[in-house]
Amino acid sequence: MSPYGHSAKNRPSEFKELCKIVTMKFRLFEHDDLSLYLSWINQKEIWEVDNSGPFELRTPESFSAQWNKIVGWQRSWMINVDGRDIGYIGFLSNQDDQLTNEFFIVIGETSEWRKGRGKAAMEWLFEKAEELGLGTVTGQVLGNNERALAFYERLGFRIVAEQDPRFERNGKIYSTLLIEKRLE
Ligand SMILES: CC(C)(COP(=O)(O)OP(=O)(O)OC[C@H]1O[C@@H](n2cnc3c(N)ncnc32)[C@H](O)[C@@H]1OP(=O)(O)O)[C@@H](O)C(=O)NCCC(=O)NCCS
Repeated sequence: MSPYGHSAKNRPSEFKELCKIVTMKFRLFEHDDLSLYLSWINQKEIWEVDNSGPFELRTPESFSAQWNKIVGWQRSWMINVDGRDIGYIGFLSNQDDQLTNEFFIVIGETSEWRKGRGKAAMEWLFEKAEELGLGTVTGQVLGNNERALAFYERLGFRIVAEQDPRFERNGKIYSTLLIEKRLE
C-alpha cells in the first residue's frame, strides 16, 4: 500500500495524471510550422483574446508579409510536449530587428490548457531572458483576456500601463494592458 491508502495499481486516475512526467522541449520556429501556427491562431477562442478587431481568417498568403518578421526574429520557439507541438513562445524584435524584452506565448492546442504547460514554458523563457541579458520582460494583454491575466498574475507580473485605443468586445469596452516582470 502507498502512504495514500491505495496500492499503486488502484490509485485514482487523477492521481496518476498529477504524477505524470512530461518532457517539454523548445526548437526554433521554421517555415514548415506555418500551417500549424495558422490553425492555432485562426481558432475563434484564441482570436478573441489575441486581436481587438473583428474575426478575419488568416491564410499563408495574408500572412506572408509577417513571415519575414517571424524568421527574422530568430527568437520564436515551438513548444513541444512529449513529441507533439502544442504552441509557441518568443520575444519580439523592433523594426531594426533588435531584440526587445516583449514576449508572446500561445498554447495553441486548447486541450493542453490548464495543465501547467504555459507556466513551464514561461519559466524557460525567463531563463532565456536572463541569458540574453534582459532585466525585465514585458507583454501586452487584451483586457478581455481574463485567462491570461490570471496566468500572468500567478507568474508575478504586474500591470504597468493601459494603452489606447480602447476596443469593444461583446458590448463591453476594454483596453490593452502592458504587463511587466522584473527578473531576479
Ligand atoms: C494564457 C495561456 C498561455 C495559459 O497557459 P496554460 O498552460 O493554460 O496555463 P497553466 O496551466 O500553466 O497555468 C498556470 C497558472 O495560471 C493560472 N491560470 C491559467 N489558466 C487559468 C484560468 N483559465 N483561470 C484562472 N487561472 C488560470 C493558474 O494560477 C494556473 O495555476 P494552477 O493551474 O496551478 O491554478 C493559455 O491559456 C493560452 O495560450 N491562451 C491563448 C493565447 C493567449 O491568451 N496568450 C496570451 C496572450 S497575452
